[in-house]
This record gives sequence, C-alpha cells and structure tokens, in this order.
Amino acid sequence: MDLIVRNATLPDGRRGLDLAVQAGRIAAVEPRIAARGREEIDAAGRLVTPPFVDAHFHLDATLSYGLPRINRSGTLLEGIALWGELKPLLTHEAVIERALKYCDWAVGRGLLAIRSHVDVCDDRLLAVEALLEVRKRVAPYLDLQLVAFPQDGLLRSPRAFENLQRAIALGVEVVGGIPHFERTMAEGAESVRLLCEFAAARGLRVDLHCDETDDPLSRHIETLAAQTHRLGLHGRVVGSHLTSMHSMDNYYVSKLIPLMKESGVAVVANPLVNIVIQGRHDTYPKRRGLTRVPELLAAGIDVAFGQDCTMDPWYSLGSGDMLDVAHMGLHIAQMTGVEAMRAAFQAITETPARLLGLDGYGLAPGCHGDFVLLDASDPIEAIRLRAARLAVVRRGRIISRAPAARAELNLPGRPAHTDFRLPPAGYDS
Ligand code: FE2
Repeated sequence: MDLIVRNATLPDGRRGLDLAVQAGRIAAVEPRIAARGREEIDAAGRLVTPPFVDAHFHLDATLSYGLPRINRSGTLLEGIALWGELKPLLTHEAVIERALKYCDWAVGRGLLAIRSHVDVCDDRLLAVEALLEVRKRVAPYLDLQLVAFPQDGLLRSPRAFENLQRAIALGVEVVGGIPHFERTMAEGAESVRLLCEFAAARGLRVDLHCDETDDPLSRHIETLAAQTHRLGLHGRVVGSHLTSMHSMDNYYVSKLIPLMKESGVAVVANPLVNIVIQGRHDTYPKRRGLTRVPELLAAGIDVAFGQDCTMDPWYSLGSGDMLDVAHMGLHIAQMTGVEAMRAAFQAITETPARLLGLDGYGLAPGCHGDFVLLDASDPIEAIRLRAARLAVVRRGRIISRAPAARAELNLPGRPAHTDFRLPPAGYDS
C-alpha cells in the first residue's frame, strides 16, 4: 500500500479503522489492516474526514483587500461599486498570484475543492482567463470549478449575456446570475428564465446569487425553483445566499419551501459574509440575514455553507478555513443540538461535494485517496476547536502538515500543557 492511516475515527462515528490507499484510491477501510504501507500515519483515534469543500467563493477578488480602497459602509452595494473600481486595474498576473496564494491557504486548511464565481462583466474576460489558468495549475491538488457570473446584472450590463456565453465556451462550467441586482423585479425574473433555459439547452449546472438582500419581497428563489422544475433541471441548480428568506413572511415561506423541495434546488448560505453584509440598513433589532437553514434542512433540502469572500471588497477577514464557516453558521442559525452540529459539518463536506458533482468523493473503498486528519475526536469537536489539520492527503500523498494546537502552561499545581480537548468527546452519549 502507498499509505495507511491507522486507528482513525470517521465522521459517521465509526472508530478504530485503518484506511489504506493504493494508486491514488482508497483500497480498504477496515480494522487492523495487515498490509504495511510505504508511508504510515497513526491517527490515534482522531478524526479522518473527506476534504472540506467550499461551494461558494470569489477567487477573482480574493486577497485584494484595500485595493484601491476599503469598503467604508460595509454594504453589498459599496462592495460591488468598489469591485467596479478595481476591475479595470486588474492584471492577469496579479489575479493568478492572489488566487494561487489563496489556494495555498486552502490546502493548508484541508479545503481541496472550491466552486468560484468569476465576473464576466469585463469585455476582456481577464479574470476568466486568469482563473482558467489557475484551475489548470492547481488541478493536481485542488478541484476548482468556475461559475460564469454576470456580476453587474445579466440584463443591466451591456454584453453580459454574450460574455457569459464566451466564458462558457472557454471552459467555465457553471451558469451564474444575480437577479436581485437587475433593474426591476420583472427583469430579475427574466434573467432567471434566460439563464436556466441557456443551462438546460447545454446540459450545464446553475448557481445564482439569489435574493442577497434584506428585502422580504425579493422572491427570485420562487422563480428559480419554478424554472428548475419546468426545465427538468432537478438536482443541478443552486440558489446562493437566499438571505431575503430570513425576512420573508412566514406564511409565504410555508408555500415556498415545498416548492424548492419539489424542484430539487439546493441552497448555499454564506454565514461569515451574510452576518456582516445583511441588516446594514437596520437600527435595532438588527436582522442576522442568514437564510432559514434549519427549516430548509428539515424539509430535506441540501444546504451547504460557503466561505464566499476572503479579504476582498466585501469582507476584510477570512482564511480559507471551512471550520470557521461552519462555526459561524452553527451559531447564527442556533444549530447547537447534536444532530444540528453534525449537519453543520456535513454542510462543509458531503453536501457541497454533491452540489459540485464531485467524482469519487468520500471515504469508501474506490473513492479518491483524499482526506484530512484533524486534531479532534469527532466533527463537533473539530468545529468547536477549528481543529488543526495535522495532515492533508491528496491521491494518497501528504500535501500539507500542521502541528497540533497546544499551550505550555506555567501554573501552580496544574499540568504543564493543555490541548483544549476533552478525551474522549462526549457528544455521542
Ligand atoms: Fe458570492
């Protein structure tokens, strides 16, 4: 065997298992595998998880914080205006360099698959060409999926639809949109129809920025669900953000959620960004703005948590850490029950892997030899501690290592160190 991990705990709670990887694929997951590995890792009961997956990011804008200025109001609209100022200043090389740096961070965090939107409202398609180059360069260690995103509006921005089609022709995989940013509700709905018809005709997936607003009457998700159903796009469409659902009338939502379920539309919430961008026009009480995650999950709808932004015109923080994202999502949505906390972990692993249509994802024999060893006993402890990614493995090769978090103490009558863990974690009982 090329690699064997001994005595691992898996996210589904199975303990004491060895994982063997041969020729880039998981060959066996069993207790006490007799074979020897050319390389071996002793997990010592710690959690081995499939890699983290980010279903929503903007790699063209990432790490551009402060260029050419910072977002003073912190609002979505100033962020879009600021991005408009930065766009003409972008260079191919700088976009590639920033994106590669972010991918380094991602790998160090065990994040090995990213769906990134890329703005196509620039006739040069500079960012598209840069990110296609990045996708090629990172392919050995990270799956990058690109969404053609008409960020200034499909109908509002001249040539946006034409540019979107050019981007798809160049190799961008997914159809994006932003109906709530079109000039009117009617044009927003029209953009959803055009984009879904375009995707259906070409067999593409759809992922729209949808209703990223506090306006309870922003109901483009209803149109997105209806078009998905009409065109038979079930299972291939994502509504990203859906923050207006936070503020919608409850009666209306009681009709909307079953329509979403019927259409097979999945949801991506972006907790770090939604909590700082939404509610900006409120005094007090201030709305949280995150979509209705527990209610959507209870209806059987797939909900993933995305990072969305890291050090860009919309968000000044972030580090590619999906455990940070899950931690924030869990808090905002008050998902503190044991099952809900486990669902928060699924929202950064299995669920986004399904939304991206990733091949060979998981820890079953035959899956890619891709996984992360965390300094935690189970998924909940991993979120609580944003646990160190002790080893990150891609196709059976260790591509990143990090030390455990540990404090050396100097206290009378107390141990000489602590690692912040409780052995074993008590969440199963
Ligand atoms: Fe976004």
